[in-house]
Amino acid sequence: MTRIAVTGASGKTGWRLVQEARRSGREVTAILRPGSAQPEGLEEARIVRLELADRDALSEALRDCEALVIATGARPSIDLLGPLKVDALAIRAQIAACRRTDVRRVVLVSSLCSGRWLHPLNLFGLILVWKGLGEHWLAESGLDWTVVRPGGLRETEEDLEREGVVFSAAGEQESNNIPRRLVARVCLDALDTPASIGRIVEITSRPGHPAQSLADWIAA
Ligand SMILES: NC(=O)c1ccc[n+]([C@@H]2O[C@H](COP(=O)([O-])OP(=O)(O)OC[C@H]3O[C@@H](n4cnc5c(N)ncnc54)[C@H](OP(=O)(O)O)[C@@H]3O)[C@@H](O)[C@H]2O)c1
Repeated sequence: MTRIAVTGASGKTGWRLVQEARRSGREVTAILRPGSAQPEGLEEARIVRLELADRDALSEALRDCEALVIATGARPSIDLLGPLKVDALAIRAQIAACRRTDVRRVVLVSSLCSGRWLHPLNLFGLILVWKGLGEHWLAESGLDWTVVRPGGLRETEEDLEREGVVFSAAGEQESNNIPRRLVARVCLDALDTPASIGRIVEITSRPGHPAQSLADWIAA
């Protein structure tokens, strides 16, 4: 059975990624920080606690994984260097670990408007600028990558079957939102969709929007 790793697994998208991956029959290594609170939803995963800067520990955690899904992101705080450290430098550390361990497939949860300078979200430590740099490093890594850029993330778990995902290429969506569980599902679909390699995919969702898979959107 395929094993994937999920970093940021203690986060609100991360734990849903772990849960959805288990439901789809994958083994999962859930990577948390040493001090992360462990949310529900990780019960069926192998849990590994490490600092992403710990090269040996990260290599060891990735060793038997076929893919990495990155769901780390700076949490809101007064540390304005947080986005630089988490959304750029920690992405670089994860890319390097994948290259060391020959984990070729990487899906990165990024954000709409990633790479923009002029945006209100940049009041938090230029977060969109650093996310853009993280994406750039991944695109230049030689790995088989997909960047998923969601809109505003929602916690809702209700009526998800009524929500159709709105897909677009980079730079085509600026607003709207999407439940975190749908983001998790699109990331896992990307792992099953070779045509998503080397692509930035923007996603939001809308009730009543026609259901379309990632593969169908790319084919169209
Ligand atoms: N919030 C939004 O509306 C929105 C919109 C678009 C995109 N995004 C992006 O989507 C992604 C997922 O967002 P989310 O709201 O679901 O995440 P979240 O709940 O804020 O979780 C963030 C995760 O990153 C981890 N993390 C933070 N700093 C870290 C560090 N220095 N080293 C290692 N791990 C660290 C956290 O670990 P701890 O539990 O230990 O803190 C947690 O697991 C993020 O990249 C976010 O920026 C968010």
